[in-house]
Amino acid sequence: MASINLEIAEGGLCSAPLAANEPAVSVRNVSKTFRRTNAQQDLVALDGVSFDIKPNSFVSVVGPSGCGKTTLLRMLNGLIRPDSGEVLVDGKVPSPGPHMGFVFQSFRLMPWRTIRANVAFTLEVHGVDAKECNERADYYLNMVGLRRFADSYPAELSGGMKQCAALARALIGQPRFLLMDEPLANLDAQTSEFMQIELMKIWRKHQGVVVMVTHSVDEAILLSDQIVLLNPRPGRVAEILDVSLPHPRWTYDVRAHTDFIAMRAYLWSRIKQMVANDPESEFFGRDEAILAEIARR
Ligand SMILES: Nc1ncnc2c1ncn2[C@@H]1O[C@H](COP(=O)(O)OP(=O)(O)OP(=O)(O)O)[C@@H](O)[C@H]1O
Ligand SMILES: [Mg+2]
Repeated sequence: MASINLEIAEGGLCSAPLAANEPAVSVRNVSKTFRRTNAQQDLVALDGVSFDIKPNSFVSVVGPSGCGKTTLLRMLNGLIRPDSGEVLVDGKVPSPGPHMGFVFQSFRLMPWRTIRANVAFTLEVHGVDAKECNERADYYLNMVGLRRFADSYPAELSGGMKQCAALARALIGQPRFLLMDEPLANLDAQTSEFMQIELMKIWRKHQGVVVMVTHSVDEAILLSDQIVLLNPRPGRVAEILDVSLPHPRWTYDVRAHTDFIAMRAYLWSRIKQMVANDPESEFFGRDEAILAEIARR
């Protein structure tokens, strides 16, 4: 397990130079359909999705598997374009770059590079000189508790450590927007809890916009100012919830807060209902089938 020792002296996310009333991210009536190999029908991944993100806010996107969370995040990064509608980041059509830190669902570390060289890569491709690349890589590796493993290769790291390295690689570009696709999903429960706290600290210190996709309702409530709940097939915005739990949230037992408990129960019931109503879900109709089987015994 990676030891987490976060000392934030400088760097990290940069604040967006936007007027407070202007949205930092604007998603307007966005739809996206995918053509599927060996399938007769195309798949509508997103349908008429709209929401705004205020500057300096932490937003989570939650919803059942396949509801279009990753597709949406890739659109915010400019990796894919909507078929219709509009995505604006800082008032412009988004494009990938160091200002857009992206933490993928899988780590995507280059196995032939050391951890330092993996983290430095973000700057290297933008022509930053080798000495500065390495110094800054070490700074961010220290931030995520991996300084001692800078000269190791990805295969020599645990899953949690690889995820920390992927986070350092996203942070090194001092992104104004940090987009994360299930960044803690591959970590053990304990490391994941430590990383949640470290993410809170990184964000509280440096602000900027963070958009995180997660399957964990707890994680979403713990970290976010706002939660975008998506419906599956086609992906649509079901609801946008404000999380008004006081910051900083690492200073008290958030999970024991009555608002946390109520929101957790509400979100979880909505997601369970969505899955129960989705004939394409592998969990569709299971409750009835199990109850019928028990009744037959
Ligand atoms: N490149 C693609 N080609 C065809 N279909 C795709 C492509 N990318 C995504 N899809 C489909 O679009 C839908 C949404 O996919 P997406 O990966 O955005 O879902 P998700 O909410 O991130 O799911 P998960 O929680 O399992 O990661 C899925 O049904 C998926 O099969
Ligand atoms: Mg996904």
